[in-house]
Amino acid sequence: MRNNSQLQEATVSADTDESKHRKNGLYRHVSPELAENMKKGWAHTERSDLEPVPQVAYTARRRLALSERFPGELLVIPAGNPKVRANDTAYPFRPSSDYVYLTGDQSQDAVLVMEPSQSGGHRAVAYMRPRSDRNNGEFWLDYHGELWDGRRNSLAESEQLLAMPCRDIRTLTDRLGTATGPIRLLQGYDAGVDAALKNRVTAEHDAEFRVALSEMRLVKDDFEIADLRFACQATVLGFEDVVRALGTTAPTPERLIEGTFFTRARIEGNDVGYASICAAGPHATTLHWVRNDGAARPGDLLLLDAGVETRHLYTADVTRTLPVNGHFDPVQRKIYEAVYAAQEAGIAAVKPGAAYTDFHNAAQWVLAEHLAAWGLFGSRSTIEAYELGLHRRWTLAGTGHMLGLDVHDCAKARTEMYVDGTLEPGMVLTVEPGIYFQPDDLTVPEEYRGIGVRIEDDILVTSEDSENLSAGLPRQADEVEAWMARLRS
Ligand code: GLY
Ligand code: MN
Ligand code: MN
Repeated sequence: MRNNSQLQEATVSADTDESKHRKNGLYRHVSPELAENMKKGWAHTERSDLEPVPQVAYTARRRLALSERFPGELLVIPAGNPKVRANDTAYPFRPSSDYVYLTGDQSQDAVLVMEPSQSGGHRAVAYMRPRSDRNNGEFWLDYHGELWDGRRNSLAESEQLLAMPCRDIRTLTDRLGTATGPIRLLQGYDAGVDAALKNRVTAEHDAEFRVALSEMRLVKDDFEIADLRFACQATVLGFEDVVRALGTTAPTPERLIEGTFFTRARIEGNDVGYASICAAGPHATTLHWVRNDGAARPGDLLLLDAGVETRHLYTADVTRTLPVNGHFDPVQRKIYEAVYAAQEAGIAAVKPGAAYTDFHNAAQWVLAEHLAAWGLFGSRSTIEAYELGLHRRWTLAGTGHMLGLDVHDCAKARTEMYVDGTLEPGMVLTVEPGIYFQPDDLTVPEEYRGIGVRIEDDILVTSEDSENLSAGLPRQADEVEAWMARLRS
């Protein structure tokens, strides 16, 4: 939360401290004439004709659901502040997913406050930074004034966009100070709000709030499903771009692959939804390979795990394992087809009423059967090896997770609601089995070593069955080869 004193530091009267006024080394001194000059001669740009954000009806419904869950309590959900990278530079800002979910807004430093009403329910108010003041010089003397960072919406404009009252963030401390009843705070996003409420909230109380916010997002509404569908479509374009960029005779740097996908993500959406894993050759056996400092060579497999995050901040999470030269060799194909069979079994197990764990168990069993057929469990039967979990040396991870605003969405939901829960229409989850033979694994034939294969799709649970939102990318081995050949022709 930015406060008055930070803004007042930028006033002209403080120009004895020249460093605060430094935009760059050349313009330190502010003469009274310049200060006066900068106050005037600016056009009136206020708008009163703005359309609400497209999810406005949905955000109102989501706030109502939250209100019903916590009657009589003051609810505080910050968007968060930019994180300093060094000195006066910051990492790209992304607001907290819960704030976005409940408001449709993406402003930094903003805070949603849901005030309990006497008559029941809550009144939602968004506290946010208003336009920069031109009279006190904040507009240009503050390093984060609008002259430098760009025009913000006025509070009245934000009210049109969000269809809720918007107030100056600098009044929030006073408002919180006068609150008398119980308060729930989404902690850890805004140090100023955390500090202001530190004697009013408890970790336990707020953990319950965080869990409720996470569980609200388990079933997606129509707006979210449409946006996840768009995220997947944009991701398909990104994968196609990568295939076109992959050299068939010369190595392609993993960072070129990363940059190619990133370009598409920035054009179609907001960003990538998580660091892209561009893992060529043996790097594919490292599940979190984001260093991306190797190269994809013809003859290698490229495991590309990447997702476009849309402008509404929903992300896809898709993996394809591609033969760089366009053709799987026999060993690569054998391992690929085992993973494909496992994914087919996993996807088939995604349907309403199924246990969440069903798709995981179905996929892992198929992987174990293949590993057994290849003799990797020695004299043990598949069932015995499976029960002992021996397959996990090569399958490593769980088979999927919920997807939404966060790549690992709803992560704070209780076990009984998520992992031990039941699939419902509107849930979206990944199905992503894999086999990973480490390059130094002496327990597998040499020809397997250094091969990693994962296939990952984003599956919507529908009222009858399921829908693969990322079906725009082929998965079956022959279809992958044909698709690559088509893109390169
Ligand atoms: N890309 C992260 C994951 O697949 O979970
Ligand atoms: Mn995933
Ligand atoms: Mn992934």
